[in-house]
Amino acid sequence: MMRRLQQVGRMLPMLVMVALLLTGCGDPYLSALQPKGPVAGMQYDLIKLSVIIMLGVFTVVIVIFTYVLIRYRKRKGDNSIPEQIEGNHKLEIIWTVIPFILLIVLAIPMVSTTFTLAKDYSNDKDAVQVKVTGHQFWWEFEYPDLKINTAQELYIPVNKKVYLSLEAADVIHSFWVPALGGKKDTNPGMTNHMWLESTVEGTFQGRCAELCGPSHALMDFKVKAVSQEEFDKWVVKMTKGENAPAENKAVATQGDEIFKQSCVSCHAVDGNGGKIGPDLTNFGNRQTVAGVLPNDKKHVAEWLKDPESVKPGNLMPNLKLQDDQVDALVEYLSSLKRQ
Ligand code: CUA
Repeated sequence: MMRRLQQVGRMLPMLVMVALLLTGCGDPYLSALQPKGPVAGMQYDLIKLSVIIMLGVFTVVIVIFTYVLIRYRKRKGDNSIPEQIEGNHKLEIIWTVIPFILLIVLAIPMVSTTFTLAKDYSNDKDAVQVKVTGHQFWWEFEYPDLKINTAQELYIPVNKKVYLSLEAADVIHSFWVPALGGKKDTNPGMTNHMWLESTVEGTFQGRCAELCGPSHALMDFKVKAVSQEEFDKWVVKMTKGENAPAENKAVATQGDEIFKQSCVSCHAVDGNGGKIGPDLTNFGNRQTVAGVLPNDKKHVAEWLKDPESVKPGNLMPNLKLQDDQVDALVEYLSSLKRQ
């Protein structure tokens, strides 16, 4: 007995460490436990309800279990066999009815929320329609009504429903923004739907939640919830805006030439170019390059020189660019800032 206790005592610091480590998991914007909109809110309520029911059942069972263990333990010197009981109608009815009631309590909000979350807003004039396409390993966001095609950063106005139509270009991915609610697979050749809404302004982390290849863990995106006014401004910038003047115009022009030769078959800027890679119209405004590196000149260069080392398995080829070509492209890409 003492030895057992000593063993447990030795493991205790390790368990405390693990618990502390786990509580530090994820930043506040990647948590389903800090909902920032009605969808995530409803889901959080369901999590709370089911945890409360589970804890209630657990507590009752443990209390009865402990009571029976102590009350009916084998006592020293007592070798008699206790009374043998089989079957008890009253008890059996009680422990059949209680779980039944608990399941009903759980099922009513569960089913009603499921229907609320499955509502179709495709014809709702007030909802923002967005077509989401998962690619290995980036996200494409298309606003069919606004004629905007962008990538990696999903702009939405606050307090407005955003209705998403989700598809995939290659393999199955899963669109997941825990703080705003929802996780839905994007499948090739099939369209899924979901809606979300943010009640606060801010940037929310999104992740691909379906193992989709070597860079699955790097398939991040961001949802930028802004005021309606900001959003309208963004729409104008994206559709009619002009680029900010480049810091070094001559070099940027050189970069533009290289872009037109080597990149434009896959990447579009202002609607001109291929759709194999992300649209780069507002590349300079983005927070990250390739979804995971900070968007500054050093990291853009790192990405251009060897995309494979940053995001293994992605489709971007190594163009084997000379250093001066990389510099020119970096200058051009960073000038793609919408203002
Ligand atoms: Cu896409 Cu995992």
